[in-house]
Formats: sequence, C-alpha cells, structure tokens
Amino acid sequence: MPVLKQIGQRFLKKKPLKGLVVAACMHITKETGALMTTLMAGGARVYLAASNPLSTQPGVVKDLAKYGVTVFHRDYDTDIKRLAGTRPHLIMDDGGDLTWDLTNAPDSWRKNLIGGMEETTTGVVRLRALARGDMLKFPMIAVNDTPTKRLFDNVYGTGQSTMEAIVMATNVLMAGKCVVVAGYGHCGAGVTARAKGMGARVIVTEVDPRKALQAHMNGYEVMTMRRAALEGDVFVTVTGDINVITQEHMMLMKDGAVVANAGHFDVEIDIKNVPAHVTLLAEGRLVNLAAGRGHPPAVMDMSFSNQALCAEWLANQDDTFPFRHPRIYDVPEDIDEYVAREKLKALNICIDTLTDEQRQYLNNFK
Ligand SMILES: NC(=O)c1ccc[n+]([C@@H]2O[C@H](COP(=O)([O-])OP(=O)(O)OC[C@H]3O[C@@H](n4cnc5c(N)ncnc54)[C@H](O)[C@@H]3O)[C@@H](O)[C@H]2O)c1
Repeated sequence: MPVLKQIGQRFLKKKPLKGLVVAACMHITKETGALMTTLMAGGARVYLAASNPLSTQPGVVKDLAKYGVTVFHRDYDTDIKRLAGTRPHLIMDDGGDLTWDLTNAPDSWRKNLIGGMEETTTGVVRLRALARGDMLKFPMIAVNDTPTKRLFDNVYGTGQSTMEAIVMATNVLMAGKCVVVAGYGHCGAGVTARAKGMGARVIVTEVDPRKALQAHMNGYEVMTMRRAALEGDVFVTVTGDINVITQEHMMLMKDGAVVANAGHFDVEIDIKNVPAHVTLLAEGRLVNLAAGRGHPPAVMDMSFSNQALCAEWLANQDDTFPFRHPRIYDVPEDIDEYVAREKLKALNICIDTLTDEQRQYLNNFK
C-alpha cells in the first residue's frame, strides 16, 4: 500500500490528527490495520469494531492490539454501541451502522464529532435516506463515490475477491459453468468480468434498464432471475437490495447450485429458506470477506488513502464546521486526483500533461 505508506510517513511528522479520537467500523482486515496505524501515526487515538459479523480476519485483532488499536470484538451490535460511546471526533463507517447508532445517541455522544467518512455503496444509500428525512446530524463524506475508490475497489477488488472466495470455498471449476450475477453496478461489472475471464458463461439480472442494456452490449446474457434460476450453476448477488434470490428462485435451481452474496448485508438471499439441493456460502454474508481474503491491498491502498486524507481534511476544518454543514460531501477533487497521481507514480506509470495550448482549446467554446 505505497500511497497510504507515504501518507503515514507525512502524518508521523506533521501529526494532523493529534489529540483526536477516531472510531472506525470497518471490516477487520490487514489492510484496515494499515489504515488504523496510519491514523495513529497522525496522532489519533483509534477504536475499531467490525462492520460485518463475519468479516474479521483471524489474527488481525491480536496484531492490532499490539500496535495499540483498541478493537471491540465481543458481539456485533454491542461493539458498535461501544464505538459510538467513545465520543469520537471522527468516524469511519462501512455500511452505516455506526452512523445510525451515533445519530440516535444522546447529544453528548456527538459533542466532539467533526464528521466522518462512509466507505461503501450501501452506507451512502442509507446516508442519503437519512438526509432526505432531515435526520443527518453531522457531515459525512461519501468516500465510496469518489472515482479512485468506486471505479477500482468496487470493480476490481470485489470482482476478483468474490470469484476467488467462491473458488476457495467450493473448488468448483468455473470454466464451462454458468454464473448468474444479480446487479450490474460497479461490483457486478467486476464480478461478471472475472467470471467471464475464468471461462464461465455469464448471465446478468438487473432492474435498471440502462444497466441491463450495458450488460447486454458488454456481451452478457440478460434475463429475469426466474429464468436465470433454471440455468445457473453459481449465483452471486451484489445489488444492495433485499430478496433478490427468493425461496421460489432456489426451488427452480439445479441440484448442487451454489448461491453467494457479495452485497453489504445478508438480505439479498432468502437465507432462512435455502432448499437442501442448494449450497449457500458464508451464511449469505459478504462472501469475499467471510469466505475469502477480502480485497487485495493494492486496491485498498487507494480507498484507504482517500479515508486517511479525508480524515485530515475534516480535522483541518474550524470548530463551527459540523454545525454549519451536516450534509453529505464528495471527497474533495484534489484528494481524489492526488491519490490517482501517487498510485500511478508507485506503479511507475507516466502520463502526458496538457499543454497550455490544449488547456486553452478545451476551455474555449470557439
Ligand atoms: N463485497 C465487498 O467487498 C463489497 C465492496 C464494495 C461494495 N459492496 C456492496 O455491494 C453492493 C453493490 O455495490 P455497487 O457499488 O455495485 O452498487 P451499484 O449501485 O453500483 O450497483 C447495484 C446494482 O444493483 C442493481 N439492482 C438493485 N436491485 C436489484 C435487483 N432486485 N435485481 C437485480 N439488480 C438489482 C441496481 O440497478 C444497480 O445497477 C452494495 O451493498 C455495496 O455496499 C460490497
């Protein structure tokens, strides 16, 4: 994670987070560990709890304790409440559960809060619902939506780690199999590409007509889940939506069909009613984290560099900021561009620069 490492080295000298408490509700992986130690290098006191009941990598909790990160890991709901109770200055959320707890907590729990960052699509969807209901009480930055996160982490990270986890859990030969992917958003585009690359026949199900057309023109078969249920060997839901694969769909599936979810919550598959002839992976939770290794560090480098730099950006705001601006923010453009440039540098890739003449041409109507 070279970009994050470099940010950590600067944080160590400048201490931009000095004296601040950061409460992070994230998947407890080695990469999250690297982010936590970066924040500590910046002077923050860091508390961490898992953002999903099955997404903690063995060994990481112990390792983080050695570095001085307090990790709550008793049970999911209690841990998040304890995090909210740390009266944080900054929060990092992944899915919105910490945000929700802090929103409903006594005012005193938010007295230090400058704002926070949201890491995933489902969390941003929930933030927007809070904002629409006029219930958003503090500023949140939608890290998920920034190009250097969403176009890489969601696409390549989820794509590779989801297929890898399914193969690791089942040892199924993907070549020649029929893989059905529900949802052709950022993650779905990544999962379909990896499945196709492994030699599978890939079917997409969608509810958005534009996404369905895009999948069709990218060469995938598009159909309803009811029809796809009859064809698939392996099913992956990655929509952020509920009841995408129902008991009725599973009753139609072939013997030995494998069903997995890579969306944030375990609500996409009717996990209570899985028939005996179908195999559900990872209890319907994020299969790439619960049954695999999660996203590779190379891609988390970009997501977590955005997180660290946004924490610094919030820490640099004045005291009145949270009260003046309890809304959803984009990652500042200069942060996103910095992450892309530094990542290219780390990869030893050079690109061209606009000449003055070109800039002028692109900025003029005539
Ligand atoms: N597993 C991981 O590590 C990981 C990483 C990033 C995001 N996520 C999660 O994955 C989910 C998807 O994220 P994204 O960034 O791809 O979102 P996205 O908004 O880009 O795409 C979601 C797609 O699902 C489609 N959809 C919604 N309901 C559907 C239904 N009933 N049937 C078929 N398609 C449907 C939408 O039209 C949309 O095209 C979210 O829950 C997100 O939080 C997981």
